[in-house]
Amino acid sequence: MADGPLRSEPLRSPTGTHDVLWPQSARWERIVGDFAKRVSLYGYGLLVTPVIEDARLFARGFGEASDVVGKEMYTFEDRGGRLLALRPEGTAPVVRSYIQHRPALPWKVWYLTPAFRYERPQAGRYRQHHQIGVEVLGVDSPFLDAEVIEIATGTVRAAGLRDTELLINSMGCRECRPAYEGVLSRYLASRVEDMCAYHHEHWHEVPLRVLDCKTEECRYVTAGAPRISEHLCDPCREAFARLLSDLEALDIPHTIDYRLVRGFDYYTRTIFEIVSRSLDAAQNAVGGGGRYNGLAEILSGPPTPGMGFGIGIERLLVACDAEGCLLAPEASVDVYIADLGQGKEVITLAADLRNAGYSVERSYEEKSLKAQLRHASRLGARIALIIGEREVAAGEVLLKPLLLAGDQLSVERGSIVQEVGKWVEKCRNY
Ligand code: HAM
Repeated sequence: MADGPLRSEPLRSPTGTHDVLWPQSARWERIVGDFAKRVSLYGYGLLVTPVIEDARLFARGFGEASDVVGKEMYTFEDRGGRLLALRPEGTAPVVRSYIQHRPALPWKVWYLTPAFRYERPQAGRYRQHHQIGVEVLGVDSPFLDAEVIEIATGTVRAAGLRDTELLINSMGCRECRPAYEGVLSRYLASRVEDMCAYHHEHWHEVPLRVLDCKTEECRYVTAGAPRISEHLCDPCREAFARLLSDLEALDIPHTIDYRLVRGFDYYTRTIFEIVSRSLDAAQNAVGGGGRYNGLAEILSGPPTPGMGFGIGIERLLVACDAEGCLLAPEASVDVYIADLGQGKEVITLAADLRNAGYSVERSYEEKSLKAQLRHASRLGARIALIIGEREVAAGEVLLKPLLLAGDQLSVERGSIVQEVGKWVEKCRNY
């Protein structure tokens, strides 16, 4: 590949993508670790699917008119002439995997995945973002919808967020939605002149999306629009009522938002979003999801109901920054070993301590004690152990408390792990 004028320029990550360095990455560990534990309580297993998929999966799954397919997908032809796409989200690949493998139903999976969308990058909106999410195939019950929403709201609360709102709506089903779309279109056709410049031209492509438009003009127009809740068929109305009463039983506050529609065609019945009130309305959704009872069939699989959500990790963190929660941890390590002799004693001592469950850093180079201790305090070490030729000869190790006040003491090599345990305990309780 030609390098050209780039040869002398430092290379950077592509626009809209970013590296996550420690200690920020420790916040990711917290979020993902908590999520993995949480979903295991509900019986979900991890599913890993490829980052690349046949591009037709998304075109068929989301609908050609969706923004993601029309404007945002990363598609490319591979060397074998296949049209592939970098996954823009996690749901369609899960359904593809279900159709391919036919696991026993109900199938409950969770995932952690990068997602790629060619969007205009701004705070909280990237071209590569990451989602944690769950999908359940084979259950069509509002009980499950409530449980899935409980997982999503629990995840957001566990990150420390309090200034959030759960928005909820029903999209109806293929029996009742077309009639509602007809009623909505007739209403919108009478208000074209009042719409924002974009929807003035494009409203008829996806009339439902006008409801979602954040401009003042369209919000004014849609304030008086017919609401889908008034046009649901009996089964959809009953399912929605059941869900609302289950959310009440679970004590999950929610707001019915008749304007809530989501960006993918695959949704039926329940849809929801968790928004942060601390973020700008243009990208305040921390997570969202819903039911997609027709998706498996659209993708040529057996009719199978589905339900799930995705939470954007970066978006969650931007909301945490706004609320001052889930702070990056301070550096900390239990033990720093200063090596003054460059012998094998340090490697075995470090191994003994790590095997006992203590985090250990050490010096790998011959440096002065002062330089090594400076490194130890930069790492936030709780204690330092010092080993020089004198200590090796005497079968001892010097223990120097760093976090708590205390004198340096000599400890026999044979009891050092125990002694370290006492000091680390004291420091952790400090
Ligand atoms: P989504 O609403 O498109 O839904 O994305 C889920 C979450 O990912 C959003 O609420 C947001 O936090 C985050 N997100 C989306 N786009 C970006 C971006 N460009 N930059 C940063 N964060 C972003 C879905 O993807 C569905 N698959 C969710 C679902 C699962 N529905 C049913 N099951």
